[in-house]
Amino acid sequence: MREQRVLIAGCGDIGTRLGLRLSATGAQVFGLRRTINQLPDGIHGIAADLTDPAALRGLPACDYLFYTAAANSTDLEVYRATYIKGLRHVLAALPEPPRHLFLTSSTGVYHQHEHDWVDEQSPVRPDSERGRILQASEQLALTSGIPATVVRFSGIYGPGRTHLQRQVKAGIAAPATPLHYSNRIHRDDCVGVLQHLLQKAEDGTALKPLYLASDDCPTPIHEVMEWLAERFGVSIDTRQPVRRSGSKRCNNRRLKASGYRFVYPDYRSGYASLLRE
Ligand SMILES: NC(=O)c1ccc[n+]([C@@H]2O[C@H](COP(=O)([O-])OP(=O)(O)OC[C@H]3O[C@@H](n4cnc5c(N)ncnc54)[C@H](OP(=O)(O)O)[C@@H]3O)[C@@H](O)[C@H]2O)c1
Repeated sequence: MREQRVLIAGCGDIGTRLGLRLSATGAQVFGLRRTINQLPDGIHGIAADLTDPAALRGLPACDYLFYTAAANSTDLEVYRATYIKGLRHVLAALPEPPRHLFLTSSTGVYHQHEHDWVDEQSPVRPDSERGRILQASEQLALTSGIPATVVRFSGIYGPGRTHLQRQVKAGIAAPATPLHYSNRIHRDDCVGVLQHLLQKAEDGTALKPLYLASDDCPTPIHEVMEWLAERFGVSIDTRQPVRRSGSKRCNNRRLKASGYRFVYPDYRSGYASLLRE
């Protein structure tokens, strides 16, 4: 890639790994977050709060903007500030419009709960305020006047995201009924998908406004947990229903048709690699 200026607003786990990959290909990468002391070499840190327009004065012009901020609390005001106000503030603060905006969103916007298959064409009527906030953030990106692409990630797993493993190690798993499908994507695939879409934009390929990024295998959550239990050699003695959004199955056909190849197409390959580590 010729030298591109990339701004990653909300440069956390996914943003940092993306930034490192882009920087390795010669891009100039700026990572914006409140605390920048952990950002690695190769990413120019910008310490700023997205919710404070004054703090965003002097942002550098960029070719590509990735908005990957995540709320650090379930508080609705924090949600609104992170996903809506922050995005609005960055767009207003940039000295010129980027060539493309990428916004990471979530499959939490879907309301479907009867194990339905969902894709980019499925209707979206979030049944929670958090879902509605994410939907508003998506709309803000897509009506910003800048070519924009929303990437809806399903449940991200990977290094450091150990909630499920910890539950299983404590002998807890979801019950088989009510049936609840989980949809997952490994952290490395989140990064891979964003890099892939950026490369397509760079090559002049028209991107769709929306991609659903989830692996090939929606799987009932109890099956994932039982598989992990077997790997850990623990027996399940407590069945606890999962507190998640509705049971649905995410279809990744559009993403794959765009040429993306998953590093971890299912939870088995992804967790096997994590357990090896
Ligand atoms: N976790 C999941 O399973 C999941 C599922 C679907 C979609 N997603 C989405 O995936 C994307 C990437 O998530 P991730 O795992 O990389 O999240 P992450 O590691 O928590 O990173 C988010 C970053 O946003 C920054 N941030 C939050 N509020 C900010 C503010 N007011 N001003 C400046 N920076 C702010 C945080 O840094 P500071 O605290 O230093 O500011 C943090 O580094 C997010 O859009 C998330 O919503 C996640």
